[in-house]
Amino acid sequence: MDTSTIVILDFGSQYTQLIARRIREFNVFSVVLPCTAPLEQVKALNPKGVILSGGPCSVYDADAPNADEGVLAMGAPVLGICYGLQFIVHHLGGKVVGAAAREYGHAEVTVVAETPLFRGLPGTLDVWMSHGDEAETLPVGFQLTAKTSNAVAGIADEARRIWAVQFHPEVAHTRQGMELLKNFCLDICGAEQDWTPEHFIQSTVERVRAQVGTGHAICGLSGGVDSSVAAVLVARAIGDRLTCIFVNNGVLRKDEFLKVQTTMREQLRLNVVAVDSSQRFLEKLAGVTDPERKRKVIGNEFIAVFDDEAKKIFETEKSAGEEVAWLVQGTLYPDVIESSSVHGPSHTIKSHHNVGGLPADMKLKLIEPLRDLFKDEVRRIGRDLGMPEEIIERQPFPGPGLAVRILGEVTAERVAMLQEADQIVVDEIKKAGLYRKVWQSFAVLLPVKSVGVMGDQRTYANTCAVRAVESEDGMTADWAPLPYEVLRTISSRIVSEVRGINRVVYDITSKPPGTIEWE
Ligand code: XMP
Repeated sequence: MDTSTIVILDFGSQYTQLIARRIREFNVFSVVLPCTAPLEQVKALNPKGVILSGGPCSVYDADAPNADEGVLAMGAPVLGICYGLQFIVHHLGGKVVGAAAREYGHAEVTVVAETPLFRGLPGTLDVWMSHGDEAETLPVGFQLTAKTSNAVAGIADEARRIWAVQFHPEVAHTRQGMELLKNFCLDICGAEQDWTPEHFIQSTVERVRAQVGTGHAICGLSGGVDSSVAAVLVARAIGDRLTCIFVNNGVLRKDEFLKVQTTMREQLRLNVVAVDSSQRFLEKLAGVTDPERKRKVIGNEFIAVFDDEAKKIFETEKSAGEEVAWLVQGTLYPDVIESSSVHGPSHTIKSHHNVGGLPADMKLKLIEPLRDLFKDEVRRIGRDLGMPEEIIERQPFPGPGLAVRILGEVTAERVAMLQEADQIVVDEIKKAGLYRKVWQSFAVLLPVKSVGVMGDQRTYANTCAVRAVESEDGMTADWAPLPYEVLRTISSRIVSEVRGINRVVYDITSKPPGTIEWE
């Protein structure tokens, strides 16, 4: 199947991923490449059109990101956005200058020429601007298509099939942005709206089946949406030749080890090996209080357990004459873009987010069926695969689990205490109909004791913090203004039902400067 593709060349704008998402929202496949991608790589994708993104630099900066000018003459229509417009002007013989006044925020743009890019849009556009430089002289062949009161806002050379806008159509503040992107992708480029869940599922299943052949694959399950959707997709392709490994690391949520197994086996029909290694993890965690050490201990132990299990599975396969071994990972598109961005592999990438890790001596080959998808697309695919909402809508849960929510030493007793408190928080948030509205909601056990009074008894017990945040992607977040009634119920239930906790506080720190997790 040949999917219509729009290539987005990334010049480093914080909005580049948004361009891809917006285009996919109307079912056209779009892919982000670093602007430095060789022309051959762009051509190999046979794109219906190319979009040049915005970026933080000036075309005159010494380290200004550059692209092969050949993309402007490939024959596929080009749309420049913000820096993309300046790149076009600068490289085709026009002139870009530093603007007298930086335009940032809402702006009003007047359309001054008819062009298919603005077809169906009003004569005045409400847009989002964010730039310092501006086009002063246009290259030969270009005409002005839109302007603000003091600057160029749109240009086009229809003979060469190049369009550009100074504003950001991908940002929600640009009211007609979606129409503009549709005009470009559908009318100008003629892209088909064939990027649908069914299409994705079908082509992924075919590809995985061809890739794996008669081989066998393993997949680490976390109980979360990414690894579950990846596993279900691969199982569709190779059936029982996929074995999932689910490890109890001793710091899962209450009853999670059993619940996840039941769902995965009975509802998703996955072949699951469940390994209860909680004792082993808790022994390794004894006496460890430093957050980074905790992560390392859990990460290393996880790989060790995973390796042991994988070896057992492959030994059985090998004796059956099977050589090729595959590892399924739930890597998502934002990680892929991040690691190949113009800024180079970013330090923010979290290796600990990968379930498992490659056992070094086992030459496993990777299958990453979700590496083209954004989180909301993974959920859409999961729904189309018939997976239960309970998994699809799950809030993210960190790999090191409750260990990074127990400040100080992690002991079996403290894990049990936090599991109870955590369950009350989730329970009440769900009852209030807020579970899908907040990004994450959970309890944190603090190493702080305080005095209280219960009945006629003086108590001296632990403090628990409740955290609930709103977020788009976990990169930034704000504390959620939970209704007082919900907070009241959570607090009184925790203090009366969880032995060992006598005080509850609410965390009102946003990210940044805080992080979502406490460790
Ligand atoms: P922070 O605390 O960095 O968290 O604001 C951002 C998002 O990442 C999750 N998180 C983790 N996930 N392993 C994971 O798999 C980890 O070590 C880890 N640390 C944080 C966190 O729950 C939030 O969604």
